[in-house]
Amino acid sequence: MDRNLALEGVRITEAAALASARLMGRGDTNAADHAATEAMRGAFNDLDVAGEVVIGEGERDEAPMLYIGERVGRAGPGAVEIEIAVDPLEGTNLCSTGGANAISVIAMGPKGSLLRAPDTYMEKIAVGPGARGAIDLARPARQNLRAVADALGRYVEDLTVVILDRPRHDALIREVREAGARIRLISDGDVSAAINTCLPDTGIDMLIGIGGAPEGVISAAALRCMGGDMQGKLRYRSDAERERARAMGIEDDERIFRIDEMARGDVMFAATGVTNGDFLKGVRFTGDGARTHSVVMRSRTGTVRYIETEHHFQQKPNYGW
Ligand code: FBP
Repeated sequence: MDRNLALEGVRITEAAALASARLMGRGDTNAADHAATEAMRGAFNDLDVAGEVVIGEGERDEAPMLYIGERVGRAGPGAVEIEIAVDPLEGTNLCSTGGANAISVIAMGPKGSLLRAPDTYMEKIAVGPGARGAIDLARPARQNLRAVADALGRYVEDLTVVILDRPRHDALIREVREAGARIRLISDGDVSAAINTCLPDTGIDMLIGIGGAPEGVISAAALRCMGGDMQGKLRYRSDAERERARAMGIEDDERIFRIDEMARGDVMFAATGVTNGDFLKGVRFTGDGARTHSVVMRSRTGTVRYIETEHHFQQKPNYGW
């Protein structure tokens, strides 16, 4: 991935964050998501790539914009062919309530780099660089906790594990409590949680449990850049979802995808904070514009770059803020 193209990715997430942040706390998840999607779609027109959305807002017949298969980018002469995974507003509920960790995210890579995952659930396990190679989704949670603690040279009791607060995780939460690890239950936003495992300051060591499959692929791209580790297994809610997976070439229901099978080769990831979060500040509106806080990273170099941007709305294209 061209290093400049990686930086261009931030413009796209900034646009989506600025648009959705306007609607923070309004209690309207659809409006915030729509604003983010429209702004992100608009910002793509300024990007000189021939892009295909492989992880997006849904199937073509259910999403008006940024649907799976949509072609985006200006695609001028010599434009590079890339695959794109987007989540214009990751944590729609978080934005609509002003809760922490709503972000706008994008991952990009050359053709064939991102897993084409249907919009279903995924069982996930994610850890930071210190525990790379220690996880195995085929094993019970308590064994993974033990292995991660050993890899980090700590007691299981010292680990902090993030789990989405959902009834489907009742048994998992019991198992982690019995093993003795500390738990941080979150209402939404498992992409942020996965990234947090790679940032020692956040105090998060592990993410486990079932969340969205598209979010899983996007998280895998981020963790590839940061040297973390992740595995995922698709979990279908219906036969229709299973059929979609088949149509995308995924035959084995039990297949465990390794991180480099979800995001392979040279990928990049960018995110902008919508609301204040663990590793990104949210959008702060000023008199004539706003400040945004973003992160951009590339797997080839492992460079993680934080970007504070000052926007002046009179002097830039308006995508809906
Ligand atoms: P949205 O932004 O699409 O609402 O996703 C938020 C999220 O919490 C993800 O981070 C997570 O992967 C998924 O929803 C979990 O799905 P569910 O809310 O159905 O348990």
